[in-house]
Amino acid sequence: MLRATVDDLELAYLDRGSGPVVLLVHGFPLDHSMWKRQIEALSVRHRVIAPDLRGFGQSQGGDETTTMQRFADDLAGLLDSLGVTEPIDLCALSMGGYVAWQFWQHHWDRLGRLILCDTRAASDTPEGAQGRLDLAASVVESGSLPVAESMLPKLFAPQNLSSGADYIEATRQVMASTRPTTIAAALRGMASRPDMTSELGNIGVPSLLVCGEHDAISPPEEMREVAAAMPDAMFHVIYGAGHMSPLERPERVNHLILEFLQ
Ligand code: MLT
Repeated sequence: MLRATVDDLELAYLDRGSGPVVLLVHGFPLDHSMWKRQIEALSVRHRVIAPDLRGFGQSQGGDETTTMQRFADDLAGLLDSLGVTEPIDLCALSMGGYVAWQFWQHHWDRLGRLILCDTRAASDTPEGAQGRLDLAASVVESGSLPVAESMLPKLFAPQNLSSGADYIEATRQVMASTRPTTIAAALRGMASRPDMTSELGNIGVPSLLVCGEHDAISPPEEMREVAAAMPDAMFHVIYGAGHMSPLERPERVNHLILEFLQ
């Protein structure tokens, strides 16, 4: 992993290949390693930059609350420190998608195209937000392992979860080793994220949206509506996948991404 100083913090990132830049933004509570198969496939034709968001993976930081805009500003700061000034293609999953909306809103001049995997435009319901705040309060006491154990079954399609695939254990380990303070800060940030539904008609950048058939966190029906509300978006269901479609069906997701980027 490489390191760049952004806003007085060291952010870790991976930088592979050459060509037009694709920035990969991971979900919660994960790190850049969830994109392993995309990094391999995309770096043949693109410069792939895959950071660990502040506090996650090997990056420093973790405030009381990390807003989605804060993460988006960090990404812009990382691009600055790498001297990337041309518009980039941003590919993001779930919480990464919440960050991508903020990147569009606050750094629109740096955004070429959007690839959104298994994410939502709506904010949390009041009950959903309260659940996150309660979990944020308890995770610092209980540690990350219970969060990892409770999230794991929600991330994957049932048949993939029971398959014993290597990525299941790898995901469990990444979640369990994420610092509780980072988890709490991101939970508070997600709970307070803005609702983007009314903005979708203004997000005119060419966009590819994909969602796992069995995604229980950001269901495909909801994501289809998000794509339909955007002026230039296409949508694909990833059959046989849950919430982690790039990990569960990498060949299909990579094919769609490469075709879209061509
Ligand atoms: C994620 O995968 O990033 C999270 O599940 C998003 C969320 O909790 O809303």
